[in-house]
Amino acid sequence: MKNIYSNIINPNSKNLNKIIQILKKDGIISLPTETVYGLAGNAYSNISIQKIFNIKKRIKKNPLIIHYYSLNEAKKDVVFNKKFYKLYKKFSPGPITFILKKKKNSRIKPIACANLNTVGIRFPKNKIVRNILKRLSFPLAMPSANKSSSVSPVKPADVSEEFKNKIKVLNGGISQIGIESTVLNLVGKISILRPGQVTPKQLEEVIKTKIKISSKQSKIRSPGSLKKHYSPGIPIYLNKKKCPKKNAFITFGSKYPVTTNSFNLSKKSNLNEAAKNLYKLFRFVKTKGYKKIYVTKIPNKGIGIAINDRLKRAAKK
Ligand code: TXA
Ligand code: MG
Repeated sequence: MKNIYSNIINPNSKNLNKIIQILKKDGIISLPTETVYGLAGNAYSNISIQKIFNIKKRIKKNPLIIHYYSLNEAKKDVVFNKKFYKLYKKFSPGPITFILKKKKNSRIKPIACANLNTVGIRFPKNKIVRNILKRLSFPLAMPSANKSSSVSPVKPADVSEEFKNKIKVLNGGISQIGIESTVLNLVGKISILRPGQVTPKQLEEVIKTKIKISSKQSKIRSPGSLKKHYSPGIPIYLNKKKCPKKNAFITFGSKYPVTTNSFNLSKKSNLNEAAKNLYKLFRFVKTKGYKKIYVTKIPNKGIGIAINDRLKRAAKK
């Protein structure tokens, strides 16, 4: 099939070299990760960071996650602690972001962290992005590659839809997880600022500490997680058992009848499959012209906690 988007490039060695050059010269580019597609730039460069905030139309007080290849690079910028080491060992590289104290001599540009004294760091698992990180002498600031408050992209064409041809996208296929990383605060009282595939229970088992999902409307912590977010741009109604024909019905499990307006997140009631399909279906029903989305109840366990978190925020008026 012809690639209708000229901005999508394949990860061959010539293109990878080109990407390294773009990043070295303060350019920005969209890269695949196992969670969602990111918009990457040099975290040590004000020019790159400004470009990211501008194109996303992101408010300056919402900090970016900084992505590293390994502990060796990250230790130059943040202060590690015992609990972090334990969790890193168990869950990294993978879909988890750790909020840690920023070192005084850290080279991360303050605007990347919204001038906070903490940094969100992540070690992505996706092989393509790891290969790129390994070849760079700086970490990558990388928010999801969408305009602020809209749905995160899970495939290259989604990024093209967000930014047209303004941004090059490295094709890494469909994101395996399909929902953003768990954001865990490890400074002061430990809490989850954004649920993800790594669940509170899994984290508690490793550090033997009770961990709450923070619901506080605090402006210091994950400001990005407060307002309306992850929205497909049409109204969403939750916990529905039925849906009028003219609206899109997003269902879960086998008990709902298959109709022309119904779209199943997972017929087998598999929550991982549902997470992977969530943003894909949000975009799909919108392109089909539906003006409203009804969603059935989703079990609130495992990655279902993250699905419900995103649904709630997407539904916020
Ligand atoms: O899975 C992911 O995390 C993706 C991929 C591309 O890595 N990235 C992502 O970035 O979702 P973004 O910018 O869309 O979301 C980052 C979240 C925001 O809610 C932000 O407020 C929070 O992480 N965050 C980042 N640094 C923080 C900090 N120092 N303190 C508190 N929250 C922070
Ligand atoms: Mg985002």
